[in-house]
Amino acid sequence: MTEQQLVDLLQSMTLEEKIGQLTQLDGSCFSGEGPVTGPEQELGIPKEKFLLAGSILGVTGADKIEQIRRICIEAQPHHIPPIFMADVINGYQTILPIPLALGCTFEEEAAKKTGDIMAREAAADGLDITFAPMVDLVKDARWGRVMESTGESVYLNSRMAAAMVEGIQGESEDFSGHLGACTKHFAAYGAPMAGREYCAVELSERSLREEYLPSYQAAIHAGSAMMMTSFNTLDRIPVTGNEKIMRGILRDEMGFQGVLISDWNAIGELILNHVAEDKKEAARQAVVAGVDIDMMSGCYMSRMEELVREGTVEEGLIDESVLRILKLKNRLGLFERPNRAEKLPEYGVALLSEENRKVAREIAAKTMVLLKNEENFLPLKREEDVALIGPYMEEKGILGAWSFFGDREKSITILEGVRSKNPSAHAKSGCGILNPGQTVYGFKFHETNEMTEEETERSIQEAAEYAAAHKKVVLALGESPLQTGEGGSRADITIPDVQKKLLDAVYAVNQNLAVIVFAGRPLDIRAIKEKAKSILYVWMPGTEGGNAIADILYGDRVPEAKLSMSLPYCVGQCPVCHNEFWTGRHVEDGENITNRFQSKYQDIPNAPLYPFGYGLSYTDFTYSDVELDRAEIHEGEELEAAVVVENTGAVTGKEVVQLYLTDEYASVARPIRELKGYQKICLAPGEKKKVVFKISMDMLCFYDRKMEYRAEPGSFIVRIGTDSVNGKEARFWLRK
Ligand code: GLC
Repeated sequence: MTEQQLVDLLQSMTLEEKIGQLTQLDGSCFSGEGPVTGPEQELGIPKEKFLLAGSILGVTGADKIEQIRRICIEAQPHHIPPIFMADVINGYQTILPIPLALGCTFEEEAAKKTGDIMAREAAADGLDITFAPMVDLVKDARWGRVMESTGESVYLNSRMAAAMVEGIQGESEDFSGHLGACTKHFAAYGAPMAGREYCAVELSERSLREEYLPSYQAAIHAGSAMMMTSFNTLDRIPVTGNEKIMRGILRDEMGFQGVLISDWNAIGELILNHVAEDKKEAARQAVVAGVDIDMMSGCYMSRMEELVREGTVEEGLIDESVLRILKLKNRLGLFERPNRAEKLPEYGVALLSEENRKVAREIAAKTMVLLKNEENFLPLKREEDVALIGPYMEEKGILGAWSFFGDREKSITILEGVRSKNPSAHAKSGCGILNPGQTVYGFKFHETNEMTEEETERSIQEAAEYAAAHKKVVLALGESPLQTGEGGSRADITIPDVQKKLLDAVYAVNQNLAVIVFAGRPLDIRAIKEKAKSILYVWMPGTEGGNAIADILYGDRVPEAKLSMSLPYCVGQCPVCHNEFWTGRHVEDGENITNRFQSKYQDIPNAPLYPFGYGLSYTDFTYSDVELDRAEIHEGEELEAAVVVENTGAVTGKEVVQLYLTDEYASVARPIRELKGYQKICLAPGEKKKVVFKISMDMLCFYDRKMEYRAEPGSFIVRIGTDSVNGKEARFWLRK
């Protein structure tokens, strides 16, 4: 349809029909035959009006979607097709590594491929939009949703956000064969106080703008079709009802012109945040703030008509939102072809293709961080005598907390991966993933390894005997996926106690130990670090996780991942990140301070256990000194910084060469260091490569005391190295 036709359609719609377009209902409101009565009470909407919904979430399957879409089209006065949306976060049926792991690739191409695969599978199964990417910056490992983010770096998050949007939306204007992206959660949901889910976010405007907005901006520049509001308050106002944030910053400043949807019942939560007395006031605040679609609160559909009739809300605001939604439907081609899945190459065929599995396996291996590898314990030799032990050795639940549409039974366990190289291998679980009898909000998840206390004691003893009888041991441990994701905040970020017992029992009889760690967050792994000669941090690696782990264990792939988020020394250190500030009593890492009055803890170091950007390879790299092509620049100029990296080891490997900048003195406190660039290179043994970074003015800018975004003259330190702590430095000046 042309824009004029859309406007004509809008003008012919009744107010009730328009408000229907502003409402998104969950698939549970519909069965195959039509609306169900269940949620009427909660939503305050008669079920007959469900059919007016402009979009529906959480339904999958091309046939089911087609069935419900057809019922709604028939029921709607102007037969406007609803959009179908769902949470396809790190995969649809081929599940890829969780986004926090994806960030460890430092490779936009991997992010783009992830978006592409998941979008093509979901589109072939009828979906139109995914509620991804989640681009919230995260620094606090206590928060369960860090697993959905690509980490703590402003720069890395922004690059990955853009790549994910491009992958999800594909090349064509109508997203055909792909999905529209709904970037979330605007804004700063990743900084809840105390790392506790849904908690208030208290940020200075400077931090909000410098650290938390850039990744959303990158997604907008990449063309994200939609944006989702966040649950949290900012400056003590729930973002979903915050006009300054939504209309002022998101639309006017950042230029977002797409459709803005609330998070689930986030409009209704304005009441629970005690800033609105009822659904009517909540609806008013949200529509004035510019929220186009109300996801599952019922506030718009139950109270908006009254607000317009009484003149409290101008109908023009409704029209503005409806027109954005009609434009999105038009862009999707829904008016001409309501069921986009037809004619897609994958339509009706088995998804989870061998090609998609192959890519998932490659990407998973790129996300696995080798944290420690004493005595070159890894890689293993095929014929080596190794005991495989641990509750994750044969666990298929390695897809992550947001992988509803994937089939666990289709994932590859470590043992299956190892057997593909060493058919005689076998494993002992030793214990369950969770403590005996432990559930998470009543869910067990790991029925496969449920044991009683007594059975667990015996099983650990057996595992220890098994360990004692072999030269080497590989232990697969980790938190449960149930302990991560939405509602997954934890104040204890260690592995379950039963697994610590297994680790101790095995270590007591065999110190030739490597540990594989499964997690949806940075864990406190001090106990593992003390005992293991090698540590491979595999996050939640997805459908092909077991094959990817086996590829690394046996050296068929060389580790290349770098931490996308600092691993804290312990939970008391959270939040901890690479771009902290100096303070007036700064303590350098490792400095032995006797003076009490310094910025440090009495009982733990300031430095994380493993810093942002850290990760080992099976080979070694050396860095030359940093060479600058000039020692000073003026406003508008740029300079080049270069190092020569050499592979001094015995195998070909990839290295993420990282560029950090430090603004030594400025009108406001600046981070001790910030990632401002990276380049991933591949070097054969003995090969050298000159890596050159351009340093431009935008890399030096920040919000000064007047909140003007600019660079200030002065000295800067360039550090180029293998992680956020180790590197070679050089100084340059920005002159007036
Ligand atoms: C959830 C999440 C959001 C998700 C939405 C729909 O509460 O916060 O990320 O997209 O609801 O499932």
